[in-house]
Amino acid sequence: MHAGPKKAVDPSPLSWNPRGCESERFAQFCRKFLRLPDGNPLVLRDWQRELVASVWDADPCPRLAAWALARGNAKSTLAAAMAVYVFMTGDHDTSVDVVAVDERQAGIVFDMCARFVERNPELSSRVQVFKDRLVIPSRGAELACLPASPAALEGRNPDLCICDEGGRIQPEVYEVVALASGKKPTSLVLLIGTPGPQPDNVLARFRQHAIDFPDDRSQVYREFSAAGYEDHGTDCEHCWRLANPALGDFLYADALAALQPPKMSVNHFRRARLVQWVTGSGEPVLPSGLWDGLSTGIGIPDGADVVLSFDGSYSGTDATVLLAATVSPTPHIDVVKIWQRPTYAETDWRVPILEVEQAIRDACLRWNVIEIAADPYRWQRSLAVLSAEGHPVVEFPQTVSRMSAATAEFLTACRNGQLSHSGHAVLREHMGNAVLSEDNRGGRLVKSSRSRHSGRIDAAVCAVMGYSRASWRATHPRKRFRAASFA
Ligand SMILES: Nc1ncnc2c1ncn2[C@@H]1O[C@H](COP(=O)(O)OP(=O)(O)O)[C@@H](O)[C@H]1O
Ligand SMILES: [Mg+2]
Repeated sequence: MHAGPKKAVDPSPLSWNPRGCESERFAQFCRKFLRLPDGNPLVLRDWQRELVASVWDADPCPRLAAWALARGNAKSTLAAAMAVYVFMTGDHDTSVDVVAVDERQAGIVFDMCARFVERNPELSSRVQVFKDRLVIPSRGAELACLPASPAALEGRNPDLCICDEGGRIQPEVYEVVALASGKKPTSLVLLIGTPGPQPDNVLARFRQHAIDFPDDRSQVYREFSAAGYEDHGTDCEHCWRLANPALGDFLYADALAALQPPKMSVNHFRRARLVQWVTGSGEPVLPSGLWDGLSTGIGIPDGADVVLSFDGSYSGTDATVLLAATVSPTPHIDVVKIWQRPTYAETDWRVPILEVEQAIRDACLRWNVIEIAADPYRWQRSLAVLSAEGHPVVEFPQTVSRMSAATAEFLTACRNGQLSHSGHAVLREHMGNAVLSEDNRGGRLVKSSRSRHSGRIDAAVCAVMGYSRASWRATHPRKRFRAASFA
């Protein structure tokens, strides 16, 4: 494609007489003006029309919308077609942004837009093509494809902003985009994507909001997914059909068959091809039997030097865990106590905070507690009270960088037999529930999905924290006679 504004452009309006509601007009535009790479006109399928109608025909028109679709179901193609439609048919000064996760992806979607224009003489005669944007000078209209960086997006004010790969976009980027919207009487931010590898991705949050607030008309959420069928195999054709409306049409079943695990990880396939909201790789964190092999079946003798590790929850969806680890280069780990909501029905159950505080005091009497490592989140007051009583509380905020480093050390120690444990049943269960979620900052233990029913992992996270501090204390003993240095 030759970039550059040199050619003369036709200032006359497009000649066409669309009828019907916005989604019908869009479908007519696609059929009349847009051609796919194979030269065929873009004929929207009913499910594509309905998706578009959910947003453009809604009254009131939502400001925010998200669609979750499996890979290969024309997310990027539809995004490009919608972008070109608004760009070509909008009012004066129409601006359309397509935001992609990175430069490369932005280039792919921009190319789709530019080629839609290029393949049709009526469109191409009206449009100037630059390196990364299309312009209609007579109307002051612009279509830009941008990489998802806050700097690139700050201060923009598009009528339509489509974020491709909404499951992988950084939350800060989405916030910039969403906050910038609303400066025009109508505008739409549309996220399209598959579930992201991180549990807290933008698309997953959007979906959770739709589940929690089904009456919120300011946003629209649609998904084609096999969510709820995570117990079915990845080769289940019923699940394939649920999540892939294009299957048997322009998406081929043999392509899904060819991608079966172990060619890709189980959970990657589930996210990308079945739109199931699972995180991590789906592989166990440790090889089968390894954790059990580290069990001695014995607790920690009274009076031993230990680090207490505490991971507190509030409502009981997660467990509150108090765990002890011996101060040693090869720590021995035991669960002191666990509090968790007895059944899911009792939603008003609360953690007995005073009982938890007392359990920590009792543990300090039982062992020689060198340190109480705790994530202060929501437990600041209890930790302040214990600290004021003279207990050695050390805050261990569970930040991404800290937990990534501690998790790597913990898993290495397990594999090398450099830790042991008492064989506590709940810790065993939580180790089995945890999956490893990896990104460029390292790996962390996470639940296998955001669902309330996915098993708890808090004791495993607490063991990571306890191992980290206990092994560190073994090599960095506290100076016992600090007062002497003032003499
Ligand atoms: N009716 C149709 N609508 C959209 N895409 C179609 C249609 N028929 C065939 N295709 C093709 O399907 C493919 C969809 O790919 P793409 O948009 O990249 O999917 P995704 O972004 O969901 O992974 C494209 O190659 C496109 O040309
Ligand atoms: Mg795509």
